Amino acid sequence: MGTKRSAGMAAAIAGSLLLAACGSSGSSNTTNTTASSGTGSSATTAAPAAAPLTISSFSNDFSAMNGLKSLASAGKGNVAVLLPDTQSSARYVSFDQPYLTKAFEAAGLSSSQFSIQNAQGSAATQTTQATQAITNGATVLVLDSLDSGTGAAIERTAQAKGVAVIDYDRVNLNGSATYYISFNNVKVGELQGQGLQSCITSWGVSNPQVFELDGSPTDNNATQFAQGYNSVLNPLYAAGTYKKVGEQAVPDWSNQQALTIFQQQYTAHPNINAVLTANDGLAQSVIAALKQQNIGPKKIPTTGQDASLQGLQNILAGYQCMTVYKPIYEEAQAAAAVALYLRAGQKPPSTLVNGSTNIQTATPVPSVLLTPESVTTANMNDTVIKDQFVKASDLCSGYTAQCSAAGISG
Ligand code: BGC
Repeated sequence: MGTKRSAGMAAAIAGSLLLAACGSSGSSNTTNTTASSGTGSSATTAAPAAAPLTISSFSNDFSAMNGLKSLASAGKGNVAVLLPDTQSSARYVSFDQPYLTKAFEAAGLSSSQFSIQNAQGSAATQTTQATQAITNGATVLVLDSLDSGTGAAIERTAQAKGVAVIDYDRVNLNGSATYYISFNNVKVGELQGQGLQSCITSWGVSNPQVFELDGSPTDNNATQFAQGYNSVLNPLYAAGTYKKVGEQAVPDWSNQQALTIFQQQYTAHPNINAVLTANDGLAQSVIAALKQQNIGPKKIPTTGQDASLQGLQNILAGYQCMTVYKPIYEEAQAAAAVALYLRAGQKPPSTLVNGSTNIQTATPVPSVLLTPESVTTANMNDTVIKDQFVKASDLCSGYTAQCSAAGISG
């Protein structure tokens, strides 16, 4: 994984890495795209200045975006990004917004050629933002929807006006997006299931009684995360090695509702001693409830996702086993790149589009699916710190001893 972080990778190496990258994403319910890759000469003349892009092209110095400058000048209209909320995860404010801005700017778009808005948790607001963006001249929407229904409706409006939609991070079931950019979400769940299993062993949890706190029932990602972790945990339940106490979805990934749900579950089932939590925000709610009950560190493992500062600190403190690190600078650049191709009326390169996703319609959506990574104290320094995803000074503030034990130097 180190190669993707090194700047200025040679194009020849990138080409050979594609094979490895495609091979490693094969465990999800997606399939590699074949038919859509051969579209004739327009695809080869599409990007005169760009080296072949692959999912390994996007390093944290954003250098891949330089190669898209002529594409950016060839485009018409503007790109409007629609983000869902600021509460369900720290990612939207801390990572998506700044990385998307950086990606568009690095490709040479001016501030009037792109916009990034956040719906603050309101589907009505997101719908209005989409309509206004189209009125204001958007030719491409990059849509991280609040729920599939809202997303698919926005797509119908866009399609009627000839505006392309890229599903960003969350796919919209029964929608009509042109492309989907995300991480391999089933793999995210598998890493969470394996992380919980590994902590149950290393923390010495005997007779594991597992509760699962799933993400939003209207977010297809949450369904795929659960598919991933249940593929790890179901065989353990079936064998009687672990007992499944219960599983509950958290509407809209609400951290507040997660707290209430878990408090009620823990009161009803005080035997719960391991919790599969689908992201860092849900884990924080469970950890808060456990601390209220005076449960100390390394007793009841939880899991996470997003490599948020709080999630990473909960890992250092021994309340969370792991988080799933999704280098959002890769996702932001992949989305910006595909948006720039569509804005210029061109087809994104088949070297980049490495999968397709079933959205319960006749046609799967061509997809760029990136690779998530599990983070524990053992590899925190070599992943999120090395990548400058978080600063060591922020992470270690109040956690000096834990940081030095984890070899985190900055
Ligand atoms: C995203 C996660 C995020 C969650 C809550 C999911 O769709 O993939 O990264 O933690 O939504 O916002």
